Amino acid sequence: MIIRPARRLHGHVPGLPGDKSITHRAALISALAAGRTRITNFSTSQDCTSTLECLRHLGVSIERDGSTVIVDGVGSGSAGLPPRFRATTDALDCGNSGSTIRMLAGVLAGQPFTSVLTGDDSLRTRPMKRIIAPLEMMGARLTSEDGRAPLRIEGHHPLTPIRYEMPIASAQVKSCVLLAGLHAEGRTEVVERGIVTRDHTERMLNWFGVDVKAGKEGSVGDAAPSYTVAVEGGARLSAHDIAVPGDISSSAFLLVAASMLPGSSLKIARVGLNPTRAELLKVLDALGAEVRTVSTREVSNEPVGDIEVRGADRLMPPTKGSEANTLRGSMIAGLIDELPVLSVLGTRVEGGLVIRDAKELRVKESDRISTTVENLRAMGAEVEEYEDGFAVQGPVRLRGAHLKAHGDHRIAMAFTVAALAAEGESYIEGAECVGVSFPEFFQLLDSVTER
Ligand code: S3P
Repeated sequence: MIIRPARRLHGHVPGLPGDKSITHRAALISALAAGRTRITNFSTSQDCTSTLECLRHLGVSIERDGSTVIVDGVGSGSAGLPPRFRATTDALDCGNSGSTIRMLAGVLAGQPFTSVLTGDDSLRTRPMKRIIAPLEMMGARLTSEDGRAPLRIEGHHPLTPIRYEMPIASAQVKSCVLLAGLHAEGRTEVVERGIVTRDHTERMLNWFGVDVKAGKEGSVGDAAPSYTVAVEGGARLSAHDIAVPGDISSSAFLLVAASMLPGSSLKIARVGLNPTRAELLKVLDALGAEVRTVSTREVSNEPVGDIEVRGADRLMPPTKGSEANTLRGSMIAGLIDELPVLSVLGTRVEGGLVIRDAKELRVKESDRISTTVENLRAMGAEVEEYEDGFAVQGPVRLRGAHLKAHGDHRIAMAFTVAALAAEGESYIEGAECVGVSFPEFFQLLDSVTER
């Protein structure tokens, strides 16, 4: 893919494809519910198609017409019985999707049969011990080679409820345990200390009538405040139609591109603004970008609104000597998927941008610390790499270069944005992987780009 520099981004995007995280949950939870759920603005990502295909293999009846998906849930059976999935000896292919394998594992742990979950080359290198440990504590048996997929799950019904203190910040792990908790005998609790990861599972279960108890407990002494979520096993899920908001993580590429190109003016309608995901907007603001949200409202138990952004040649954090130039600590979980594209923005920020406490980036679809640093350096940026992040110097003008996606959709999109704001043409190797989360990316970007 050849990317030429852009002058500015301009226009109105009436909607983005549905949020990937919310769509996965909509599919999985509607499959568990009793009755028919109509999901509109279903994510067009390959990842969410992987979730649907796995569910079909498990006997769930699913109709798909573009971005509308109708799921006939298998229901929770009569009191205390597991849902009526169809056991399959085929390995379920989760493709590139960490959310699919980790959340589906939680569902399958509580079924009275054995299943095998696998995925593509990238997914088979990613860490699964983080879900194996709690699911085994709950009574399922999981076998794998050194904690990587393929995962063989010998389910057990009912599972034993646990109180699980999260050793890492991961919404996929939290969701895995909560979904397993639906098939446990009693109350399952997940505790997050100091860091709250995205809460779409909690909201979606609630939308389906499950009484999810979620609350913050204040700090005692030096201890960080904790957030506890609890579900009761055997809860009945009732089908409930869902309109999925536009994906804020997809919007990030457009927002950053517009922020970096002077004269840009872009409005994106109907984007999900869940506070556990919208940290990006706060960071853009703190870095001096002109961004605002309007018409906020609730749709299917998720906040949604329109985002307006304007561009500038360089960004000046309004507070001097500023903390704004460092992203670290509890804010990282809410920005995790946006860090590669924020590093690109960092090259335009007075004082640059430092990202720390983000070691999790090393185990995403690629090692996003090394793939980001490599591509930024190829464009002439000065970057220091740390085990848990990097420091990007700014403001500098990037140069067009030969860039590599490394099979990672967010790296491909982040460096397309960098290429738009660079001097000279760039070439992105492997850019077709954008379809993993945002197949319409290039077309949509083109429709608002002025050269
Ligand atoms: C996701 C959680 C995050 C995120 C991923 C989607 C989710 O992963 O990076 O893109 O939908 O719960 P982790 O839970 O591994 O941090």
